[in-house]
Amino acid sequence: MSDRIISPEAAEDESFEKSLRPQFLAQYIGQEKVKEELSIYIQAAKNREEALDHVLLYGPPGLGKTTMAMVIANEMEVNIRTTSGPAIEKPGDLIATLNELEPGDVLFVDEIHRLPRVAEEMLYSAMEDFYVDIMVGQGTTAHPVHFPLPPFTLIGATTRAGMLSAPLRDRFGIVSHMEYYLEKDLKEIVLRSADIFHTEIVETGAIEIARRSRGTPRIANRLLKRVRDFAQVQADGVIDQKIADSALSLLQVDEAGLDYIDQKLIKTMIELYGGGPVGLSTLSVNIGEEQETVEDMYEPYLIQKGFLKRTPRGRIATARSYEHFGFPYQGDLG
Ligand code: ADE
Repeated sequence: MSDRIISPEAAEDESFEKSLRPQFLAQYIGQEKVKEELSIYIQAAKNREEALDHVLLYGPPGLGKTTMAMVIANEMEVNIRTTSGPAIEKPGDLIATLNELEPGDVLFVDEIHRLPRVAEEMLYSAMEDFYVDIMVGQGTTAHPVHFPLPPFTLIGATTRAGMLSAPLRDRFGIVSHMEYYLEKDLKEIVLRSADIFHTEIVETGAIEIARRSRGTPRIANRLLKRVRDFAQVQADGVIDQKIADSALSLLQVDEAGLDYIDQKLIKTMIELYGGGPVGLSTLSVNIGEEQETVEDMYEPYLIQKGFLKRTPRGRIATARSYEHFGFPYQGDLG
């Protein structure tokens, strides 16, 4: 996965990404609906001098859920503590994090759908009434201890709202769906990032990168970084459409922003399975990826762009896929 330039997954070394993060809502480009709603709830909570209601951010990876959590904390003028579902292995890990909270603070839990069940259950009372009851001691000496917490805001991020249990989901007062970004917003993000990098770029260059970024800022910024290298070595350092196009083609990111794994996925469906229907497990084995990865990272964009459809009998390649890859289309066989 790590060698996939258009992977929306966060890389190990995120320092460059961090340097590009907007700090406040006014700097955050795109996600207009989410921003509009949040700005009202933030203002209202600040006026009442209360903690903001708990927020669930869901949507595909790379769309800025972590960034949005940080922006919310900045706007609320509170501290943010960050953890993730997989990082919390036992209840003690969660208690240690909760113990650090000060009134009004934000606790950000990334990949909240991967929290262990016991930790999730502790969150119910923590979120609703700001306390946890923990068992102390072993065997006959075991007894519950009531542990009050300051009012705080839990911000949970997930790629799959459907994988959260209903009791947890219901405890979020604010549920925001992050959408793939519009091309015009990605263009602005690329221009803003180029400015931070002190890189010269013309508008058509930014549009080309935006167009081929799968609606995802994280990918746009990564592609910008690579294209900048090409511009520096093969041209005069200025990113225009021509250099962006040739760099992206060399990186095997096609006109529609599909990379070699997307291409392999669709071509496999067409060439080996007559366009489908083909089961997720078969498809995943063929392209050598986990089913969850295919479902969370590849499919949502391919579905949104009309390259692939999910049907009860399996995945099918659409007319658009046939056309894009130059195969004759014989109708929907799904
Ligand atoms: N960099 C990454 N995502 C961004 C966004 N949504 N707005 C501004 N800059 C960004």
